[in-house]
Amino acid sequence: MTRPEEKQSKKLFIKTYGCQMNVYDSERMGDALSVSGYSVVDSPEGADMILLNTCHIREKAAEKIYSELGRMRPHKEANPDLKIGVAGCVAQAEGEEIIRRQPMVDLVVGPQAYHRLPTMLDHVKDGGTVVDTDFPEEDKFTQLPRGPKAKRAPSAFLTVQEGCDKFCAFCVVPYTRGAEVSRPPARLLEEARDLLERGVVEINLLGQNVNAYEADGWSLARLIKEMAKLDGLKRIRFTTSHPNDMGDDLIAAFGEEEKLMPYLHLPVQSGSDKVLKAMNRKHTAESYLKVLERIRAVRPDIALSGDFIVGFPGEEEVDFQATLDLCKEVRYGAAYSFKYSPRPGTPAADRAHVDEAVKGERLKRLQTLITEHQFAFQQSMVGQTIPVLLERAGRDAGQMVGKSPYLHAVHLDAGPEMAGQIVNAKILHSERNSLAGEML
Ligand code: SAH
Ligand code: SF4
Ligand code: F3S
Repeated sequence: MTRPEEKQSKKLFIKTYGCQMNVYDSERMGDALSVSGYSVVDSPEGADMILLNTCHIREKAAEKIYSELGRMRPHKEANPDLKIGVAGCVAQAEGEEIIRRQPMVDLVVGPQAYHRLPTMLDHVKDGGTVVDTDFPEEDKFTQLPRGPKAKRAPSAFLTVQEGCDKFCAFCVVPYTRGAEVSRPPARLLEEARDLLERGVVEINLLGQNVNAYEADGWSLARLIKEMAKLDGLKRIRFTTSHPNDMGDDLIAAFGEEEKLMPYLHLPVQSGSDKVLKAMNRKHTAESYLKVLERIRAVRPDIALSGDFIVGFPGEEEVDFQATLDLCKEVRYGAAYSFKYSPRPGTPAADRAHVDEAVKGERLKRLQTLITEHQFAFQQSMVGQTIPVLLERAGRDAGQMVGKSPYLHAVHLDAGPEMAGQIVNAKILHSERNSLAGEML
């Protein structure tokens, strides 16, 4: 005999693309739909509903979604009652066009409308389609119901700020995520306490411009300080920051707050002031380097990471050289670089583009340099003893993967019962993308 809850439970498969905010949103959508009787599964086989949580940042990312939808056909043929939804930034940018291009899709939901998902399901139940790309006034996160108090992995994301008012000339985010909105601190502390009860020990505060956080008179620095007082919280991180929003109190927090990890992702995009101006970044290479200097003064071991775009319209070899020079000066612990991808509706899309082959060649040179610095930084960890947060089982039995304060993956011999503990480890080798060490 089936128990009533088994009869009710429908299977929901969510595939997540793009940034960490989408990872957080997917978890919250899973929570919201659990109230409608769905439980999240980790494969599309036999699912009753498939949601693609999408990214629109570069052309390839958006095109990937249409190929993925094509691959969903066999699932739909096997189960005509299967519902297929597209969420995230492609949903916001393309709206109804998605259903025109791929009629298999039942629902399209933009990032600010997730709390309406349960109602949307009622519409698609009988074969209808729904497109909701509104930016409603209400806070989607407050409206999203909570899931059951299930155990969580030791490290969790918590969105504190969403949207962007910066309008860099290349970027879709201000259009897909909307204006900058910060969530009230009381709610964030409550959500943090809930995460801690479920076994979380590290919280990564998320925002498209997380350091522009401002709510009820609180800055991000104040939020970090108050969060650090929560018992059981061992580590705090935040991402992604904008150079122009690195306030004095946030810089000081790196020197004052032990729980705040010595790692900062601070995208600069280019080392050329001409290109930065054309990108509408509103900072110069020098003002960016000044910010880093001030952070290093209070936290000398800070590891930096960044984002770069190569081949932005108007970028000449001399501008690209300035990017390489900036990289050499900063020596990033990690950095992400991309070929400029024209995005419909953004100011730079209509400008004269740099030749694809030139973009490719510049990207290669930049990535070679970044990789060199990354390896050197990893190598400098060998022989050091560092605190490692054990997070998940490793490839080999008896191994766990943890994280260094500087965000390196560290492999150690340890049992799964140690997940969530911070142990001291001596680093023995540096591998391609990780470190290996022994627990002391
Ligand atoms: N709010 C964050 C995230 C932006 S998207 C920030 O300001 O950093 C992440 C990265 O994608 C950007 O930093 C940029 O390097 C890259 N990116 C954004 N739009 C792009 C485009 N049109 N072409 C290539 N890379 C792009
Ligand atoms: Fe995009 Fe610029 Fe806003 Fe970052 S700051 S999300 S790159 S517009
Ligand atoms: Fe992509 Fe949207 Fe994040 S475009 S990077 S999923 S904000």
